[in-house]
Amino acid sequence: MTGLPILEISNLTKSYGAVKAVDDVSIHVERGEIAGLIGPNGSGKSTFFDCSTGLAKPDSGKVRLDGQDITGWTLNRIAREGRMLRSFQKTVVFKSLDVEENLIIAGQMFSFPWLFSTFGIGKLSRSRVSGLRERAQDLIRMAGLWDVRKQPAGNLSGGQQKLIQFASMLMPEPKLILLDEPMAGINPKIIERVVETILYANKSLGVSFLIIEHNIDVVTSICRRVIVLDQGRKLAEGLPQEIINDQRVREAYLGG
Ligand SMILES: Nc1ncnc2c1ncn2[C@@H]1O[C@H](COP(=O)(O)OP(=O)(O)O)[C@@H](O)[C@H]1O
Ligand SMILES: [Mg+2]
Repeated sequence: MTGLPILEISNLTKSYGAVKAVDDVSIHVERGEIAGLIGPNGSGKSTFFDCSTGLAKPDSGKVRLDGQDITGWTLNRIAREGRMLRSFQKTVVFKSLDVEENLIIAGQMFSFPWLFSTFGIGKLSRSRVSGLRERAQDLIRMAGLWDVRKQPAGNLSGGQQKLIQFASMLMPEPKLILLDEPMAGINPKIIERVVETILYANKSLGVSFLIIEHNIDVVTSICRRVIVLDQGRKLAEGLPQEIINDQRVREAYLGG
């Protein structure tokens, strides 16, 4: 893990009215790393993601992705050119399409957006589709969705839909993924699957991650480094063990 960080955010600030949602926060994600972003509800984690990924405009601060200044880029441009993707707390899948189609369409939208908007699925050359299908099938296997791959996504459980969404994000070969509470509201078996899929994406596909997560066991087991926000400010940053033993973090977040 040497060289330039994949993501470097300096002095990011964002207010909503009188609320300073994010207050002068600087963080980085090293290339190849899984980093965690934790903190109490309302501490500014999602706003930090919004401002980093072009969904909201920061009041001030700089965002550098893979050495390039992307401050002010739109969400779409950051996704397509920057290859930085983010998930939302709410799960979004195409409910009437089957699992495999969901993944192929995700790959297609990024590779050939004009084709998607003109023709929809199914009009790509056979070799293009078969490349996407192969990648989709690898990811479907990895996510434990092989047996349900021909079922409409809408028929599957919330946890399985989360896995579909996550596998879909891996289709366009992102460099960096920001996940907003990926484990919220899903059962322990699916949590294990999501963890395995994140680790696979990180180790085998070389994707770096910044993950907002309240499940502290997951954070300490997969994150190399953890950053803590409290009331919009960075409270602490360090190895997982240092963070859970940090008295300030315990008081602000971990309940004493
Ligand atoms: N779009 C918005 N409009 C107004 N206030 C917002 C908006 N987004 C977030 N906030 C406020 O900013 C603060 C941080 O919220 P958020 O980033 O969602 O925190 P977290 O994700 O850590 O729970 C909260 O006080 C929240 O009410
Ligand atoms: Mg949030």
